[in-house]
Amino acid sequence: MTSKIIIDTDPGVDDSLTFLLALASPEIRLEALTSVHGNIGIENTTRNALAVLELAHASHIPVARGCELPLIDRAYTSGKNVHGKQGVGNAQLPEPKSKVINQHAIDFLIEKVNAEPNQISIVPIGPLTNIALAIRKDVQFAKNIKELVIMGGAIKQGGNATPLAEFNIFADPHAAHVVFHSGIPIKLIPLDVTYQCLFMAEDVERINQIKSPIAKFIKDATSVYMDFYKSEGIDGCALHDPLTLATIIAPDLLRFEEYHVDVDMSGGVSNGNTFADFMNVSKKPANMQVAMQVRGRDFIELFIERMETLCKNISF
Ligand code: RIB
Ligand code: CA
Repeated sequence: MTSKIIIDTDPGVDDSLTFLLALASPEIRLEALTSVHGNIGIENTTRNALAVLELAHASHIPVARGCELPLIDRAYTSGKNVHGKQGVGNAQLPEPKSKVINQHAIDFLIEKVNAEPNQISIVPIGPLTNIALAIRKDVQFAKNIKELVIMGGAIKQGGNATPLAEFNIFADPHAAHVVFHSGIPIKLIPLDVTYQCLFMAEDVERINQIKSPIAKFIKDATSVYMDFYKSEGIDGCALHDPLTLATIIAPDLLRFEEYHVDVDMSGGVSNGNTFADFMNVSKKPANMQVAMQVRGRDFIELFIERMETLCKNISF
């Protein structure tokens, strides 16, 4: 059964690898990309979405431009030291010929989801601003969406934006609060599992045995990303966003637990912190399934195999 998905994204190096994985996965039909602020500004995230699809000969997939600011706070980016000055590391992608569609991402998401009730899964791998505003703008949206498969949060794991908060949630905690309490079926892929999925330099070299612009893109895009992780004492780079797709393409790699999860939006030292009610002291029902275990190296092997296939299948 092919899953129809829309990826809501702030590309971003790992976001870009996620598009490639989606295109290489027969379990998925990638319906569209919607851009959002996050790793870098909306101009770069939107251009990168168009440019990476063009690289992979997938410009037929529509891209809708989304929100450039979070709901309440000022914009927060992960910085050029993580994803490079334009958000795709050292990769040099030509200016895309394709353009965004003439519809805001929020309206596009509402229209697509309401046109096919319970058929469309949305995979947010950036801040949740677009999703929160779609929920607020159209009450049918939350009823008609199949599920949200979200890369975000840190449950038992420390944060990566602050000691207590993961980047996507920290970049718009108010949006996360709206989404977490929307009643939409949610699978959350937090740092607890994504940091167990480290893509190594030798994995990049393995893919580059295939002479392909996509293999070269993977190497150039991950170069800055790898250096950042090395500066943090981590060998390799975490494939946060690509792992999120494993929920759909290889769910047996993950173990989910049901919890009531909430997010701190008080603006204090723990702003953006995501916490699970492990002891159910709130007596509130679970609002999501949280991936708490993963076969990380098995996922990386799957990712490499799919990239090798993609490189071989796309002739340049
Ligand atoms: O914390 C990791 C997340 O923040 C990933 O989605 C990465 O692309 C950045 O957006
Ligand atoms: Ca991202």
